[in-house]
Amino acid sequence: MHSRRAILYMPGDDRRKIQKATTLGVDSICMDMEDGVAANKKAEAREVIAGAMKELDFGKSERCIRINQIGSGLEKRDLIAALATNPDTIVVPKVETAEQVKWVSEHIETYELSSKLNIGSVRLLVGVETAKGIMNLKEIAEADKRLEAIIFGGEDFAASVGAVRTKDATELLYARQAVVTACAANDLQAIDIVFIDFKDEAGLRAEAEEGARFGFSGKQIIHPNQVEVTQEAFTPSDEAIKYAKRIVESFESSQKEGKGAYALDGKMIDMPLLKNAQKVLDRAKAAGKSKTSATDYTDFHGNLKRKSV
Ligand code: COA
Ligand code: MG
Repeated sequence: MHSRRAILYMPGDDRRKIQKATTLGVDSICMDMEDGVAANKKAEAREVIAGAMKELDFGKSERCIRINQIGSGLEKRDLIAALATNPDTIVVPKVETAEQVKWVSEHIETYELSSKLNIGSVRLLVGVETAKGIMNLKEIAEADKRLEAIIFGGEDFAASVGAVRTKDATELLYARQAVVTACAANDLQAIDIVFIDFKDEAGLRAEAEEGARFGFSGKQIIHPNQVEVTQEAFTPSDEAIKYAKRIVESFESSQKEGKGAYALDGKMIDMPLLKNAQKVLDRAKAAGKSKTSATDYTDFHGNLKRKSV
């Protein structure tokens, strides 16, 4: 799966920002047709995105297009226009039911068939950012195998439940952890909230590191200043990689000695710690930082094999 430590948004009608985004080395670029675009600029956004997709070199960055929400009356036109640009990924905001996920996926499949693309070649990410979406997380996460990630929108969720947004985001804790859990249960990536104060680098770093600790795979961002800090926060440190490798290696030898639990540096290691260490190695590999993933290590024990996230 494509690594999505940071997904950078910009208004789809702003060619200058799209162009700038292609120079930043960001994992994913999301050209917006939804809330970043004024109501009277929706048609312009479709045209500007089409031009940018045709003329710009996005390098290794994933080319995502966010359409307007289902039920807005714009979704069909947006989806047709977005697919016509041959994007890597469609992003659908404010998803609340499994049917909505299936509706989009079926439209994409019809496009793939008519364009002679392999089925599944266009990826799908959905935003869950309302109370109803959080209540239906399980069915949304299980809805369609095209789905690769759930993106949690903190500002929209706060508006949906009438919460006051605070800097420490305690009002979002339940929903953020619900998203991480639903994603982990279905091998999906979980993408965390936007940090809107783009001049506060220390604040961003703290929130991004917290998201990584919670188990998120990455974070939505809205400004070039946020790329480096965010991608770093979602890349395991050299120290963490080294420690994870030591756990995996010592676990293997302790299993051979017939011990399920053992001590390493004065701390107890057993199966859950091994699984966590494997996740660190998978993330390091996905971020291009390590050549070995967990599965390279754990061939000795078939049921420990897991998909890279
Ligand atoms: N993507 C790409 N480039 C961006 C960018 C973004 N999201 N935000 C700013 N830039 C560029 C600017 O164009 C400017 O480039 P330039 O010097 O070549 O002109 C440079 O980065 C510095 O921008 P700055 O002056 O600090 O910000 P701004 O006042 O132009 O824009 C925002 C501030 C918040 C309006 C802008 O960051 C933005 O549009 N963010 C995304 C909003 C969005 O898409 N929201 C919906 C999803 S949550
Ligand atoms: Mg939103």
